[in-house]
Amino acid sequence: MGQLDGRTVLITGAARGIGAACAHRLAADGARLVLADLDPGVEKVARELGQVAIRADVTRRDDIVRMVEEPYRRWGRLDVLFNNAGVIRVQPMLDVSEAEWDRVMTVNLRAVFFVLQAVSRRMVRQDPIAGSELRGKLIQTASIASYRGGNHLMTPYSASKAGVVSLTRSAAQALARERITSNCVCPGAVETAMWEQIDKEWGALEGLGQGEAWKRRIRGIPLGRPERPEDVAKVVAFLAGPDSDYMTGQALNVDGGLVMGN
Ligand SMILES: NC(=O)c1ccc[n+]([C@@H]2O[C@H](COP(=O)([O-])OP(=O)(O)OC[C@H]3O[C@@H](n4cnc5c(N)ncnc54)[C@H](O)[C@@H]3O)[C@@H](O)[C@H]2O)c1
Repeated sequence: MGQLDGRTVLITGAARGIGAACAHRLAADGARLVLADLDPGVEKVARELGQVAIRADVTRRDDIVRMVEEPYRRWGRLDVLFNNAGVIRVQPMLDVSEAEWDRVMTVNLRAVFFVLQAVSRRMVRQDPIAGSELRGKLIQTASIASYRGGNHLMTPYSASKAGVVSLTRSAAQALARERITSNCVCPGAVETAMWEQIDKEWGALEGLGQGEAWKRRIRGIPLGRPERPEDVAKVVAFLAGPDSDYMTGQALNVDGGLVMGN
C-alpha cells in the first residue's frame, strides 16, 4: 500500500527537473497523475510511468481550463495540485526590461495564482478525499530566493517567488473553512536544467567558465552536496499525503541549510 494510493494529482512543469522527479515519486506512492507541461517531453515522462500527459501552457486561460478539466473528466475529482512550473533569468537589476519582468511574473506568479484559483473553484464543490477530512491540497513551488539575500541578479524571479509564498498563505486562509490546505516548498540549489541556465547566464556576466557559478553556489550548502530533484520530491510527497493534513499556510525550506548562508 502506498501512502498516496488512489489520490489524483495534477503536476505542472512535469516534463523534467523537480516536476518530473515528483511525478516519479508520487506514482511510486500510488497516486494517479495528470502531468502538464508545454514541453513535449512530458509525454515521455507520462508514458514511462503509465500516467496521463497534457500539453498545456499555464499562462493561457484555455490551457488552464483544459488541464484542470482532465482529472475531473477521467476520475471525477482532483485531490492534489502541485503548482510547479517556473522560469528564471539571471541579469543585473538595472538591465531588467518591462518585457522580461512581465515574462517571469506571468509564469511564476500570475499563472500560479490562476491555476490555483481554477483548481480551487472545482475542489470546493467535491467530497472529501477518501479517508480524509480534507477536500483537497494545494502545493506550490516557491524558492529560498524569495527571502535569501544576494538575489540582485534574479530580482524579478525572487520577487515572483516571494509572491508565491504570499498567495500560498492567502489561499490557506481563504480555503481553510472549505477544508482545502495550501502549502509551498522552497528548494535551494537543485541540479536541474534551470540551474544549467543560471550557470550559463551568471557565468557570462561574471566571466566564469562553465560550471563555475554552480560550484560557487553549492560550496555554501551546509549539508555538503547539491540538492537533487528527488530531495524536493520527498517533501512534496509528504505534503500530498495524509501526514501533513493538519498543516496549512506553510513554506517549507528544502535546501540542505543553504538559506542560513555560510
Ligand atoms: N532548480 C532550482 O535550483 C530551483 C530552486 C528553487 C525553486 N525552483 C523552482 O522549481 C520549479 C521547477 O524548476 P526546475 O528546477 O525543475 O526547472 P526546469 O526548468 O528543469 O523545469 C521547469 C519546467 O516548467 C515548464 N514550464 C515553464 N514554463 C511553462 C509554462 N508556461 N507552461 C507549462 N510549463 C512550463 C518547463 O517546460 C519545464 O519542464 C520552478 O518553479 C522553479 O522556479 C527551482
